Amino acid sequence: MHVLILAGGLSHERDVSIRSGRRVQEALKGRFDQVSLLDVDTELIPTLRAGDVDVVWPLLHGASGEDGSLQALLELLGVTFVGTGSRAARVAWNKAVAKAVMMREGISTPEYVTLPQSLFREVGAEQVLDAIVARFSLPLVVKPVRGGSALGVSIVRDRADLARAMVHCFAYGDVALIERHVEGIELAVSVLGTGDDARVLPAVEVAVEGAYDYDARYNAGRVEYFAPARLTAEQAEVVSAAALTVHRTMDLRDLSRVDLILDGDGAAQVLDINIAPGMTETSLLPQAAEAAGLDLGSAYSALVADAHG
Ligand code: DAL
Repeated sequence: MHVLILAGGLSHERDVSIRSGRRVQEALKGRFDQVSLLDVDTELIPTLRAGDVDVVWPLLHGASGEDGSLQALLELLGVTFVGTGSRAARVAWNKAVAKAVMMREGISTPEYVTLPQSLFREVGAEQVLDAIVARFSLPLVVKPVRGGSALGVSIVRDRADLARAMVHCFAYGDVALIERHVEGIELAVSVLGTGDDARVLPAVEVAVEGAYDYDARYNAGRVEYFAPARLTAEQAEVVSAAALTVHRTMDLRDLSRVDLILDGDGAAQVLDINIAPGMTETSLLPQAAEAAGLDLGSAYSALVADAHG
């Protein structure tokens, strides 16, 4: 069997994607006849049409890898692939759409508004920002409505920093999502499998001085991870149930990672849903799998074996 990993591409998360792809390639080595990695470019379609690839694993992070476009192409070409399909990917990728679906389904997520960059020009930035602070109070979180790896994300504690945070956010996309900041335990809960066969992995706790930003995520040293997280059995059950509900309700397949905060009232507040979670040496899903006692090669092979066409 020939497994083709798709990585790289041209998103802001290109480097992370290549690191993820190489780690998965390494873990799968020797388990299939051929495990190759394509740094996605114009060779993608000729490679897929050449007919010698049995299963594709899209490990592109960011737009075009996680927004459903790539999955739609694979579906159109009838390619068997690992991971969530195009429709569910589109929903999960847009944080505002995902939050609206979660609220409808009774899954807790912090209150939010979206703000297109154009509104600033029409109404006047300071007036808009005053209205946002009046509604949510400080601190609040500013993030691109579409994006990953915390790029463009700021936690704003001081009104004077809000305009700068908006400008930073708009560097990564033209719509910002502004969210009430929730204090609590920062956790990532990964799920492997699909539907009734989905299995939740132990929560990983992220303890970081300052923000869990891009640098903290991918350069070892600034973050202390606890895998499994330091939770009571009851807390672990709450966050596991939340992640599993998200995975199933939003029709996610094979693997996902749900980032959430366990708040002071003991509720899981879902922040983000990842259909192509990072698989690098500092990433959270591999840590969770190891905490569950899984061998990464075997766990990833099982996902390839279950891939759907
Ligand atoms: N978007 C990155 C890869 C992550 O959240 O893991």
